[in-house]
Amino acid sequence: MATPLSARMPAGGGAASFAGYRAAGGYLGLARARELGAPAVQEAVKASGLRGRGGAGFPTAMKWAAVPPPDGGERYLVVNADEKEPGTMKDRYLMEGDPHQLIEGLAIAATAIGAGTAFIYLRREYTRCALELEKAVGEARVAGLLEGLRLHLHLGAGRYLCGEETGLLNAIEGKRAVPRNKPPFPQVSGLWGRPTVVNNVETLCNLPHIMREGPEWFKALSASSDGGTKIYGASGWVASPGLWELPLGVSAGEVLERAGGMHPGRALRAFLPGGASTDFLPASKLDVKMDFDSVAAAGSRLGTGTMVVLDDRTCPVGMVLSLERFFARESCGWCTPCREGLPWVRRSLEALESGEGEMGDIEILEHHARSLVPGRTFCALAPGAMEPLASALKLFREDFEDHVARKGCRYK
Ligand SMILES: Cc1cc2nc3c(=O)[nH]c(=O)nc-3n(C[C@H](O)[C@H](O)[C@H](O)COP(=O)(O)O)c2cc1C
Ligand code: SF4
Repeated sequence: MATPLSARMPAGGGAASFAGYRAAGGYLGLARARELGAPAVQEAVKASGLRGRGGAGFPTAMKWAAVPPPDGGERYLVVNADEKEPGTMKDRYLMEGDPHQLIEGLAIAATAIGAGTAFIYLRREYTRCALELEKAVGEARVAGLLEGLRLHLHLGAGRYLCGEETGLLNAIEGKRAVPRNKPPFPQVSGLWGRPTVVNNVETLCNLPHIMREGPEWFKALSASSDGGTKIYGASGWVASPGLWELPLGVSAGEVLERAGGMHPGRALRAFLPGGASTDFLPASKLDVKMDFDSVAAAGSRLGTGTMVVLDDRTCPVGMVLSLERFFARESCGWCTPCREGLPWVRRSLEALESGEGEMGDIEILEHHARSLVPGRTFCALAPGAMEPLASALKLFREDFEDHVARKGCRYK
């Protein structure tokens, strides 16, 4: 099975070396991209079927095509390496294991959109990634591979909302990290009002392979209509949590198999297919193909592709409470429904979990799940927070009611 993204990572840990990266054909994709020029690179990426790996699955070439033609002024490429979605650690793995792959990928993207400056917005807690990236940037610079590109490594100050692309742009500009109105989209008016593309780490890591091996090869790696492989993950009570690079579109059951199945003595009840802000799917949906359209058709989102499992000995109300505590804490406070709503959700769940809850608390939760939907809040944080809650209320309604009836949690 082809594993282009993780093929060079040393089995015992540590990062692939610069020499090893180059020996395996590293930076040939960048040379090819520079030789072909921006329009041909965009064409190749369009033909490859690459969709963004940051969560929304937006086609990468379509995002780039929205950048206006050159006008002589600056334009920016921003790497979204914030990665604070609970249950997600795929970008960390890529940056720690093969930093040159990301640097080559971002240089190809900069070529495609004509950017002279790039930023890597890195989660501050990822200290090892920062060290590996700094070293790799130095090596690429000395080797003359980054000529014509100013590259800045920017360490975030630690808010989930900084991963939202416009909050991230405000953070780089030194402003309060709240989302911006869209439109205008960043491709038209981003950093300091100039055209800017924000791409996820995993998205960019695919580009060297597309440029070197060709779009048809990339497309054929996939088990779905979109191109490539995906770094999938599994966490929770699985036998062996981890990350695996597999063809895009393998089933959720195959990902779970990679994790060695469930931990002995635990049975699968449901799973969040792509991180904390996706809807639960029941165990009966393990055959769902883990690609963007199939997971959406099954009633959830592929999100980051790193699944979190719920087993039969874990309380679904407690699990949702722990997620909603995170979301309520991370609300940036900019719009009222989220700033006021998420703490209400948290309080109602805390009441239920501690045995002080009433049926009215379940109604409050349902009200929020209906209200905090796309279009009613300023950004996608609050609707994302409602996905595990709304699906839990549907799938595990009896567990919520049981907390009221027995005045406590039967799992404790
Ligand atoms: C609250 C919130 C947090 C986000 N966090 C991240 C993140 O950590 N990394 C990321 O790549 N995208 C994150 N996103 C999605 C980005 O806004 C954006 O869609 C993504 O970086 C686009 O990259 P792509 O087109 O390569 O997928 C987040 C979105 C929201 C609403
Ligand atoms: S939905 Fe929440 S995180 Fe997004 S702008 Fe409103 S308050 Fe901020």
